[in-house]
Amino acid sequence: MKLRTMDSIEVSEKIVLLRCDLNVPVSENGEITDTSRIERLLPTVSQLSSKGAKIALLSHFGRPAGKYDEQFSLNNLSDVIAEVLQADEITVIPDCIGKVTRNVLEDLPKGGIALLENVRFYPGEEKNDIAFSKSLSEIADIYINDAFSVSHRRHASIDAITKLLPSYAGRALQFEVEMLDKVLKKSNPPVLAIIGGSKVSTKLGLLDNLVEKMETIAIGGGMANTFLAAKNTNIGSSFFEETMINDAKSIIKKSEKIGCQFLLPVDVVVANKLESGVKSKIVDIDKVPKNSMILDIGPKTVELFTGAIVSSKTLLWNGPLGVFEVPPFDQGTSNCALTAAMLSRSGGLISVAGGGDTIAALNNAGAAGGFSYVSAAGGAFLEWIEGKILPGIIALREKEGERK
Ligand code: 3PG
Repeated sequence: MKLRTMDSIEVSEKIVLLRCDLNVPVSENGEITDTSRIERLLPTVSQLSSKGAKIALLSHFGRPAGKYDEQFSLNNLSDVIAEVLQADEITVIPDCIGKVTRNVLEDLPKGGIALLENVRFYPGEEKNDIAFSKSLSEIADIYINDAFSVSHRRHASIDAITKLLPSYAGRALQFEVEMLDKVLKKSNPPVLAIIGGSKVSTKLGLLDNLVEKMETIAIGGGMANTFLAAKNTNIGSSFFEETMINDAKSIIKKSEKIGCQFLLPVDVVVANKLESGVKSKIVDIDKVPKNSMILDIGPKTVELFTGAIVSSKTLLWNGPLGVFEVPPFDQGTSNCALTAAMLSRSGGLISVAGGGDTIAALNNAGAAGGFSYVSAAGGAFLEWIEGKILPGIIALREKEGERK
């Protein structure tokens, strides 16, 4: 899909409303625990700043349900945002619409940056309200969306606003769409998907779509138990989703029909309880003891999955393959992730990862830096690989014959 990019836009002295995702994770005492989403704005912000734009950062933070809530004020994050964006000064504005806001933005120096207040303090945002988006549009001259991770939301600052201002894709969003397209449009086959995490129920649409597109799918994590149970394998006292057995059977059947290789664990690491350092053992998949829980994939499965990585040219990874938060049940994820990172670094593999716990699992393995691309998106990443076209992305699509 061709997006309207920032390639040839004129922004000098114009007010650019930059929709970003500053919905960063924070600890109990309000400290930001991961600044990736802010860091990713740097290419767009530097380009706009060097071309003399007046930049208005617009974002949501948390889910304040359409009213002011101090704990979700973006003012709380302004120092860190300024530091990460390497800005000498950021002007904090206590609103995101209105005449006063517009006046402050007009007074910014060329290349200056302002931080607007949480857009979800207004109920019109989540309702995609046209009157609210009109108010948003009145404070700026140009709109740029650099928030792929919110682009699955049909909200005023993502969707309706694009009908009112000249609208473009920011650099981070453009790059994310290009990388995900590489995987789903299979520009470099064969393509392998490694899918983990605990539940089939949250990834049914995604699996259904991937079975049609990938040469191979390797399943780990708690969701593998549901597939194993669907194949009548004894999984002891492991977690699984009984209500998803029929869906799991349909996915397996569909993969056989289409010719997508569907890999499940052939051995596993089991224990009687989930505790750090608990006594565990490795067993073949047909020998899981009655009272044991499957908590990670075993070494033969690691060999099977890494073999699949080596024979692929592109890898899509979502979700951990074991309970990576509790050692030693992080080994399966780590060993597979390190192989993917090594092959990507040497140029033999395009690897794209994202969604849910994926970044944490790859960071735990020390492998995230080796991947070709790690998405900072959660729900939007999953919806994209389900094959859905996101409202925020459709809105930025270049129409046929349109001049940039
Ligand atoms: C995210 O954290 O995935 C995005 O910021 C979207 O947040 P939301 O799920 O509250 O819309």
